Amino acid sequence: MLYDNDCRLCPLAGLRSHIVWGEGNQKAQLMLVGEAPGAKEDLCGRPFVGAAGKLLDEVLTGAGIERKDIYITSVVKCRPPKNRMPHRVEITACSPYLAEQLRRIRPRVVVCLGLLAARHFLGPEVKISEVRGRWFELDGIKILPTFHPAAIFRGRDKLPLLKQDMEKAAREIL
Ligand code: URA
Repeated sequence: MLYDNDCRLCPLAGLRSHIVWGEGNQKAQLMLVGEAPGAKEDLCGRPFVGAAGKLLDEVLTGAGIERKDIYITSVVKCRPPKNRMPHRVEITACSPYLAEQLRRIRPRVVVCLGLLAARHFLGPEVKISEVRGRWFELDGIKILPTFHPAAIFRGRDKLPLLKQDMEKAAREIL
Protein backbone atom coordinates (compact mmCIF):
# COMPACT_ATOMS: atom_id res chain seq x y z
CA MET A 1 0.00 0.00 0.00
CA LEU A 2 2.84 2.41 0.81
CA TYR A 3 2.62 4.96 -0.96
CA ASP A 4 -0.19 5.89 -3.34
CA ASN A 5 0.93 9.22 -4.76
CA ASP A 6 -2.50 9.59 -6.31
CA CYS A 7 -4.30 8.84 -3.03
CA ARG A 8 -7.98 9.86 -3.15
CA LEU A 9 -9.05 8.35 0.17
CA CYS A 10 -10.36 11.66 1.54
CA PRO A 11 -11.47 15.09 0.30
CA LEU A 12 -8.08 16.71 1.07
CA ALA A 13 -6.85 15.03 -2.11
CA GLY A 14 -8.58 17.67 -4.21
CA LEU A 15 -6.91 20.55 -2.35
CA ARG A 16 -3.29 19.52 -2.04
CA SER A 17 -0.18 20.36 -4.06
CA HIS A 18 1.82 17.48 -2.59
CA ILE A 19 1.24 14.58 -0.27
CA VAL A 20 3.70 14.92 2.60
CA TRP A 21 4.43 11.32 3.48
CA GLY A 22 7.29 12.08 5.84
CA GLU A 23 11.02 11.71 5.59
CA GLY A 24 14.07 10.50 7.41
CA ASN A 25 15.89 7.39 8.40
CA GLN A 26 14.07 4.17 7.50
CA LYS A 27 15.82 2.53 10.47
CA ALA A 28 15.11 5.37 12.90
CA GLN A 29 14.75 4.55 16.56
CA LEU A 30 12.82 7.79 17.01
CA MET A 31 9.77 8.86 15.04
CA LEU A 32 8.17 12.28 15.41
CA VAL A 33 4.47 12.44 14.53
CA GLY A 34 2.88 15.85 13.92
CA GLU A 35 -0.62 16.84 12.92
CA ALA A 36 -0.80 17.60 9.20
CA PRO A 37 1.26 19.57 6.67
CA GLY A 38 1.05 23.35 6.56
CA ALA A 39 1.31 25.65 3.55
CA LYS A 40 5.05 25.35 3.03
CA GLU A 41 5.07 21.60 3.55
CA ASP A 42 2.25 21.26 1.00
CA LEU A 43 4.28 23.22 -1.54
CA CYS A 44 7.56 21.37 -0.91
CA GLY A 45 6.23 17.88 -0.15
CA ARG A 46 8.44 17.74 2.94
CA PRO A 47 7.46 17.71 6.64
CA PHE A 48 8.21 20.55 9.04
CA VAL A 49 9.94 22.94 6.66
CA GLY A 50 7.91 26.04 7.64
CA ALA A 51 8.14 28.23 10.74
CA ALA A 52 7.20 25.39 13.10
CA GLY A 53 9.83 23.25 11.38
CA LYS A 54 12.54 25.84 12.00
CA LEU A 55 11.67 25.83 15.67
CA LEU A 56 11.58 22.04 15.69
CA ASP A 57 15.08 22.00 14.14
CA GLU A 58 16.37 24.21 16.97
CA VAL A 59 14.80 21.96 19.58
CA LEU A 60 16.22 18.84 17.94
CA THR A 61 19.70 20.35 17.70
CA GLY A 62 19.51 21.40 21.36
CA ALA A 63 18.66 17.83 22.31
CA GLY A 64 21.57 16.46 20.24
CA ILE A 65 19.28 14.85 17.68
CA GLU A 66 20.05 15.03 13.97
CA ARG A 67 17.17 15.01 11.50
CA LYS A 68 18.98 12.45 9.36
CA ASP A 69 18.85 9.93 12.22
CA ILE A 70 15.13 10.13 12.88
CA TYR A 71 11.88 9.85 10.93
CA ILE A 72 9.38 12.73 10.81
CA THR A 73 5.81 12.42 9.66
CA SER A 74 2.29 13.40 10.69
CA VAL A 75 -1.08 11.78 11.35
CA VAL A 76 -2.61 13.28 8.18
CA LYS A 77 -0.45 13.54 5.08
CA CYS A 78 -2.30 16.27 3.15
CA ARG A 79 -2.85 19.88 4.15
CA PRO A 80 -6.26 20.78 5.56
CA PRO A 81 -7.51 24.14 4.25
CA LYS A 82 -6.32 27.12 6.32
CA ASN A 83 -4.48 24.63 8.54
CA ARG A 84 -7.69 23.68 10.33
CA MET A 85 -7.67 20.54 12.48
CA PRO A 86 -8.06 17.43 10.32
CA HIS A 87 -11.58 16.01 10.38
CA ARG A 88 -12.36 12.55 11.67
CA VAL A 89 -12.96 11.14 8.13
CA GLU A 90 -9.58 12.47 7.02
CA ILE A 91 -7.79 10.97 10.02
CA THR A 92 -9.52 7.63 9.53
CA ALA A 93 -8.77 7.54 5.81
CA CYS A 94 -5.10 8.45 6.33
CA SER A 95 -4.29 6.34 9.38
CA PRO A 96 -3.38 3.14 7.45
CA TYR A 97 -0.40 5.06 6.06
CA LEU A 98 0.92 5.90 9.51
CA ALA A 99 0.26 2.34 10.66
CA GLU A 100 2.30 1.05 7.72
CA GLN A 101 5.12 3.49 8.47
CA LEU A 102 5.21 2.24 12.06
CA ARG A 103 5.28 -1.38 10.88
CA ARG A 104 8.13 -0.72 8.46
CA ILE A 105 10.32 1.58 10.51
CA ARG A 106 9.58 -0.01 13.87
CA PRO A 107 10.78 2.95 15.98
CA ARG A 108 11.48 2.33 19.66
CA VAL A 109 10.20 5.78 20.56
CA VAL A 110 7.42 7.92 19.11
CA VAL A 111 7.20 11.57 20.12
CA CYS A 112 3.69 12.91 19.53
CA LEU A 113 3.87 16.56 18.54
CA GLY A 114 0.60 18.03 19.72
CA LEU A 115 -2.87 16.96 20.70
CA LEU A 116 -3.93 15.27 17.48
CA ALA A 117 -0.99 12.86 17.50
CA ALA A 118 -1.35 12.29 21.25
CA ARG A 119 -5.03 11.40 20.79
CA HIS A 120 -4.23 9.20 17.83
CA PHE A 121 -1.96 7.03 19.95
CA LEU A 122 -3.48 7.38 23.40
CA GLY A 123 -7.20 7.83 22.83
CA PRO A 124 -9.66 10.57 21.90
CA GLU A 125 -10.16 11.88 25.42
CA VAL A 126 -6.62 12.73 26.44
CA LYS A 127 -5.67 16.28 27.33
CA ILE A 128 -2.21 17.46 26.38
CA SER A 129 -1.76 19.08 29.80
CA GLU A 130 -2.26 15.68 31.43
CA VAL A 131 -0.08 13.53 29.17
CA ARG A 132 2.78 15.74 27.96
CA GLY A 133 6.20 14.73 29.17
CA ARG A 134 4.97 11.33 30.40
CA TRP A 135 5.92 7.96 28.97
CA PHE A 136 3.28 5.58 27.65
CA GLU A 137 3.70 2.25 25.92
CA LEU A 138 1.77 0.85 22.98
CA ASP A 139 2.57 -2.37 21.11
CA GLY A 140 6.13 -2.27 22.43
CA ILE A 141 6.68 1.35 21.34
CA LYS A 142 7.44 4.02 23.93
CA ILE A 143 5.19 7.01 23.36
CA LEU A 144 6.04 10.50 24.60
CA PRO A 145 3.47 13.24 23.96
CA THR A 146 4.65 16.84 23.90
CA PHE A 147 3.57 20.20 22.52
CA HIS A 148 3.38 20.87 18.83
CA PRO A 149 6.15 23.34 17.94
CA ALA A 150 3.52 25.73 16.50
CA ALA A 151 1.97 25.93 19.99
CA ILE A 152 5.13 27.72 21.14
CA PHE A 153 4.20 30.70 18.94
CA ARG A 154 1.04 31.07 21.04
CA GLY A 155 2.85 30.65 24.36
CA ARG A 156 6.64 30.89 24.67
CA ASP A 157 6.45 29.50 28.22
CA LYS A 158 5.93 26.08 26.64
CA LEU A 159 9.33 26.12 24.93
CA PRO A 160 11.38 24.88 27.93
CA LEU A 161 8.93 21.98 28.31
CA LEU A 162 9.17 21.04 24.64
CA LYS A 163 12.97 21.13 24.92
CA GLN A 164 12.88 19.07 28.09
CA ASP A 165 10.65 16.45 26.44
CA MET A 166 12.88 16.20 23.38
CA GLU A 167 15.91 15.71 25.63
CA LYS A 168 14.00 12.97 27.43
CA ALA A 169 13.35 11.24 24.09
CA ALA A 170 17.00 11.69 23.10
CA ARG A 171 18.22 9.99 26.30
CA GLU A 172 15.98 7.04 25.52
CA ILE A 173 17.54 6.36 22.13
CA LEU A 174 21.19 6.99 23.03
N1 URA B 1 2.75 20.66 11.37
C1 URA B 1 2.76 19.34 11.24
O1 URA B 1 2.15 18.65 12.03
N2 URA B 1 3.45 18.81 10.24
C2 URA B 1 4.16 19.53 9.37
O2 URA B 1 4.79 18.98 8.48
C3 URA B 1 4.14 20.93 9.54
C4 URA B 1 3.43 21.47 10.54
